[in-house]
Amino acid sequence: MGRMRRSWLLSGICCAIFLLLTGCASQSDSERYTLQLGVACYNQSDTFLSQLIDRLKTDLAAAETDSFQTHIMVRDAAGSQRTQDDQVKELLDAGANVLCVNLVDRADPSEIIDLARERNVPIIFFNREPVAEDMRQWDQLYYVGADAKQSGQLQGELAADYITQHPQIDRNKDGKIQYVVLEGEPGHQDAIIRTETAVDTLKSLGVSLDKLGSGIANWNRAQAQNRMLQLISQHQSGIELVLANNDDMALGAIAAYQKLNYTESAMPVVLGIDGTDVGLEAILNHTLAATVYNDKEGQTAAILQLAQALVTGQGMDQIQFAKDHYIYLPYTKVTAENAAAYLAKSD
Ligand code: GAL
Ligand code: CA
Repeated sequence: MGRMRRSWLLSGICCAIFLLLTGCASQSDSERYTLQLGVACYNQSDTFLSQLIDRLKTDLAAAETDSFQTHIMVRDAAGSQRTQDDQVKELLDAGANVLCVNLVDRADPSEIIDLARERNVPIIFFNREPVAEDMRQWDQLYYVGADAKQSGQLQGELAADYITQHPQIDRNKDGKIQYVVLEGEPGHQDAIIRTETAVDTLKSLGVSLDKLGSGIANWNRAQAQNRMLQLISQHQSGIELVLANNDDMALGAIAAYQKLNYTESAMPVVLGIDGTDVGLEAILNHTLAATVYNDKEGQTAAILQLAQALVTGQGMDQIQFAKDHYIYLPYTKVTAENAAAYLAKSD
């Protein structure tokens, strides 16, 4: 073999090795993805949402592999839509490649949608459902949540069961259950629908009801305590049942009775929705009769699965959509019998 040929051969081999190495490197590069999740929350002092976001952080960390890195940035709008619009811009500037938005005003997502569309960053709305018309503004919009109607139905069934098992709840023995409702934010999909469905379900199960009053307490424990103190001052020990749109407001109602030193037997039956840790603990110490589990673990798993599919372009076909771009996780019933198991699940 001549010198010339040998050096040609050598450089050929070198070239092949080089191509092989760089080829491999660029191939594994293209399989490496980073999810930069920008999360905008309407109000992080909300008990259910702060637990949901903690869970999302844990899920994201646990999903990391060599080829899939995750990074989460969370912003708290503290109840202002304008603040949230600015925060979404910040998240995009900081490099978010998927947005997770819990709208302050569920009827006002346009600004956020425009910002995201300009940069082609998909949005997963969660917990506060935009109106259907807005969801059609762009094809990169998704929603993860739960069906409000189902939570009301399950609350109604739980209340009916409890009343049947404890006939002494009808304290004045008039054959009717005197009740009050503590409602979440006006305009929220989970407020009006939960109340209406819970009441309708109770009636359809043969419970005679007598509505004494209601109060709006915006999901908030302290506000619910105040509303309840007012309702008690109007009706004294006449209230036999409290239907609260969420656990925090149920706990506010219980706190009002405790403040007035009511004994356990003079207190009404109180039901919540969510199964937050504090709610589940109240079931275990028998101050809260029952709740309906708002599956935050299922919701965060769905958010992560969707976000991962959006970033990697893989696995979208394995996601179970209830309808186009919507994922709804089912609610379940929680009583003293299974509350401990639910508490363990949220660890
Ligand atoms: C509901 C939940 C409430 C509150 C609200 C905020 O689904 O039951 O506790 O977190 O969402 O949007
Ligand atoms: Ca009665």
